[in-house]
Amino acid sequence: MTGRLRLRAETLVVAFFVTFALGAWVANAQPPAFATLEQRGGEIFHRAGCFFCHSVRDAPIAPPRVTFSLGYVERLAWQWTRNGPDLNQIAGARTNDWLFAHLVEPGATVAGCPMPSYAYLPAEDLHALVAFIQKANVPARAATPADPGAPPPVAATREAYLAGRALYRTYCEGCHGREGNGAGSAGHLLQPEPRDLTDAAWVQKRDDAYLFRVIAVGKPNTAMPGYNGILTAREEALVLFYLKFFADPSARQAMEEGFVP
Ligand code: HEC
Ligand code: HEC
Repeated sequence: MTGRLRLRAETLVVAFFVTFALGAWVANAQPPAFATLEQRGGEIFHRAGCFFCHSVRDAPIAPPRVTFSLGYVERLAWQWTRNGPDLNQIAGARTNDWLFAHLVEPGATVAGCPMPSYAYLPAEDLHALVAFIQKANVPARAATPADPGAPPPVAATREAYLAGRALYRTYCEGCHGREGNGAGSAGHLLQPEPRDLTDAAWVQKRDDAYLFRVIAVGKPNTAMPGYNGILTAREEALVLFYLKFFADPSARQAMEEGFVP
C-alpha cells in the first residue's frame, strides 16, 4: 500500500519536472514577442532579405539581435545590390490589399517586377510586412492628383485594338484577368476585387472621361493604381479603347478575327 503510494508521488514529481522543462523549452523556441505588428514586420523584413534590394529610413525597425549581427553586411548589401525603390518613397498611396498582393504576386501587380514572390511566408507575416511598409511610407504624397481631362481620340482600327491589347496584357491582366472578368492571378487577393469589365450594364453607365481618369490616376481606397508616369496619355487611351470591348463580345470577336481593318 505505502509502496504504491510512494510510486505515485514519485511519478507526480517526475511528471511535474518533465512538464516544466517542456514548457520552458517551448517558450524559448517561440519567436520574440513584438509590441506592434509593424515591429514584427520590421524583423521579417530583415529575416526575409528584403533589405538586399530595398532601403527604409527611420523605420520602427527590427530588434537589435538581427541588426547587430548583420549590420555590416547589410550596409554593403544596401550599397551594392539595391535595385528596388526606397520604401519610404513608394508611388502614391498603396492600399494594404495592394501591398499584400504585391508580396504574393509581384509581377501581376507591377508589370515586369523582378522581385521574388513571398507567397511562402505565412499570411500573418505578410500582414506584418504590410503594416511595416505602411508605417515607413511617407503619407504626404497621397495628394489629390490633377484631373487628366478627356482621353485623346483613338481611331477605331484593328491596329489600335492590338496596341491596346498588348498594353492591357502587360499592365492590367495580372489583376483584371485576360478576359477582363477580374480573374487575374492577383485578383482574388484584393478587397474589393478588380472590376468585372465584362459587365456591360456597369460599363455602359460610365463615360470615357470617368474610365480614363481611373486609369490615369487610380481609384482611391482600392488597389487600382494610376498609370500616369508609367503610360503616356495616348497609351492610356489605347488601353481604354481595348478594355471597352470586354463588355461587347461580338465586336470583340470581330476585332480578334480581323474583320475590322
Ligand atoms: C531581388 C530584389 C528584391 C527583393 C529581394 C525584394 N524586392 Fe521589393 N521590389 C524590387 C523591385 C526592383 C521593385 C520595383 C519594381 C518596379 O517598380 O518596377 C520592388 C517593389 C516593391 C514594392 C512596391 C513599391 C511600389 O509601391 O511600387 C514593395 C512594397 C516591395 N518591393 C516590398 C518588398 C518586401 C517587403 C520585400 C521582402 C519581403 C521585398 N520587396 C523584396 C526588388 C526586390
Ligand atoms: C493591382 C491590381 C490592379 C491592376 C494592375 C489594375 N487594376 Fe484596374 N482595378 C483594380 C481594382 C481593385 C479596381 C476597383 C474595383 C472596385 O472598385 O470595385 C479596379 C477598377 C478598374 C476600373 C473601373 C473603375 C471603377 O470604378 O471600378 C477600370 C476601368 C480599370 N480598373 C482599368 C484598369 C486598367 C486599364 C489597368 C491597366 C492599365 C488596370 N485597371 C490595372 C485593380 C487593378
